[in-house]
Amino acid sequence: MTYPIERIRNFAIIAHVDHGKSTLADRMLQVTELVDARSMRDQYLDKMDIERERGITIKAQAVRMPYAHREGEYLLNLIDTPGHVDFSYEVSRAMNACEGAVLLVDAAQGMEAQTIANLYLAIEAGLEVIPVLNKIDLPAARPEAVAEEICALIGGEPEDILKVSAKTGQGVPEVLDRIVELVPPPAGDPEAPTRALIFDSIFDSYRGTIVYARVVDGRLRPKDPIKMMATGFEGEIDELGVTSPEAKPIDELGPGEVGYLTAAIKGVGEAKVGDTITLGGKAGAPSPLPGYREPTPMVFSGLYPVDSADFPDLRDALDRLRLNDASFTFEPETSVALGFGFRAGFLGLLHMEIISERLDREFNIPLVTTAPNVAYRVVMQDGSERRVSNPADLPDPNQIETIFEPTVDAMIYTPADYVGPVMQLCEKRRGTMLKMDYLTEERVELRYNLPLAEIVFDFFDRLKSSTRGYASLDYEAADSQAANLVKVDVLLNGEAVDAFSSIVHRDKAYEYGKAMVTKLKELIPRQMFDVPIQAAIGAKIISRETVKARRKDVLAKCYGGDVSRKRKLLEKQKEGKKKMKSVGTVEIPQEAFVAALSIGD
Ligand code: GTP
Repeated sequence: MTYPIERIRNFAIIAHVDHGKSTLADRMLQVTELVDARSMRDQYLDKMDIERERGITIKAQAVRMPYAHREGEYLLNLIDTPGHVDFSYEVSRAMNACEGAVLLVDAAQGMEAQTIANLYLAIEAGLEVIPVLNKIDLPAARPEAVAEEICALIGGEPEDILKVSAKTGQGVPEVLDRIVELVPPPAGDPEAPTRALIFDSIFDSYRGTIVYARVVDGRLRPKDPIKMMATGFEGEIDELGVTSPEAKPIDELGPGEVGYLTAAIKGVGEAKVGDTITLGGKAGAPSPLPGYREPTPMVFSGLYPVDSADFPDLRDALDRLRLNDASFTFEPETSVALGFGFRAGFLGLLHMEIISERLDREFNIPLVTTAPNVAYRVVMQDGSERRVSNPADLPDPNQIETIFEPTVDAMIYTPADYVGPVMQLCEKRRGTMLKMDYLTEERVELRYNLPLAEIVFDFFDRLKSSTRGYASLDYEAADSQAANLVKVDVLLNGEAVDAFSSIVHRDKAYEYGKAMVTKLKELIPRQMFDVPIQAAIGAKIISRETVKARRKDVLAKCYGGDVSRKRKLLEKQKEGKKKMKSVGTVEIPQEAFVAALSIGD
């Protein structure tokens, strides 16, 4: 059944981690009587059993809640958004599927950078923002102060802000009422050619890809031939359904409605977030919905199997992950030090962590992961250009005209007491201040343009430690800039180990080289022979340390006996040393490959 469009309200909840988004969603399910108290369990939507009937995974990306408002029945669609900065494009698409957003703020914690960043996305998408203070039952709650903080950002009067406890349910019906009253109904023409916005798609090994979409114009019905306008996928709708809160097939979705569909789509790469679904053939829409963007990886890292026999398994695992995640890229590469592996591209650091963890947990392939780096645009003296996403591939400096590095605009939200340390940290990381705003007397928003390479390491940890955990960070990609960069190589036993090469700013190269060799000296165990560790820029050695040999006393067994026997043993030992050196069997532990990550400032 389709609802009359004026009775539909599509909204998202914007909240920082742990500010109570899932708990509020649980209460909404109860208030709308979708789930009764008896079958209610905490974080209902998060913890839906993975394999229900027929082994189907339906993640609650969008929940449909009919709500009895005093003026009649309304259909509320709660659309879930990923919270993290790495996925801001996905967040922006999910918001484009809504007309309103509940800005949920923990009354004891106050605003956080991530919340503000997502709030700006909501404002950009033209959403009606409904601020709500949560956890007012906590003794530490400071609803007045936090309400002022919110009003400083979005205007309005502090006393108008709803105050709720998602835990006890206090104030939750008022939130639903306000959504009905303030969020505008969707606009859309049921007779126009069908266009639906994909805001999420997930891969299920039994059914292929499940696509979550919001119909903007026209209608979708089971068996309809469909086409994805950006990827060109064509197929037929197999199942059309809504989540309410379990998956339920439905025979039509009209304008403004939100639901899921399956259509024998092989991987999420064929149904990308932001793409437009239209009908196949002549009924297709002439132009897609605006705003589609190809995901671009920002952070790169080498992935190598510890055991080279695992290489084919690693390839399979990466192929399978890619079915699940269209924004993750990989291509084969070879390293002299590490053998065959892949260079993988991620949206950001969290994304990288998620993928590495999944490889480890789901596929059980022990991996060596190299330190993360960014991709550079290198303009050569002959005018040609190339993209370098592996530092070892940086061409000879004599042939390079300019190197451009990616930058980000970072927003840091911090208590006023820590402005000094935050500024110091940003300056050290080659940041340029864009603006500083005192939102209230105690809260400051700082904006910096920073090279992405400077934050992929440990920027966030440093920020946290210099502000006792109070500051929060968000960033978005900005223009690239020309920079004076050099490649620092690390040589073990006189041979450059490609996996250790990195591209750093010239002013920091010495400091970096020294820190790197010192760190490696700690990490590389003693071998049978001395291992010199050197850092070099081109042919110039800039720093050196030595891992002393573990001396094996080969003569210990020789009690007595003649000199020639001793000599023979010593010769043998020497040869052993030489052999090891020549085959380069320096044992390098896995941590060494990410040593750069733990180099302090
Ligand atoms: P993520 O799913 O990790 O993003 O967190 P979330 O924003 O969904 O927060 P969640 O609902 O999991 O709540 C975080 C914690 O806060 C849980 O331990 C909740 O029980 C608690 N919590 C949520 N709302 C309230 C509230 O109104 N009062 C109190 N006292 N605790 C609450």
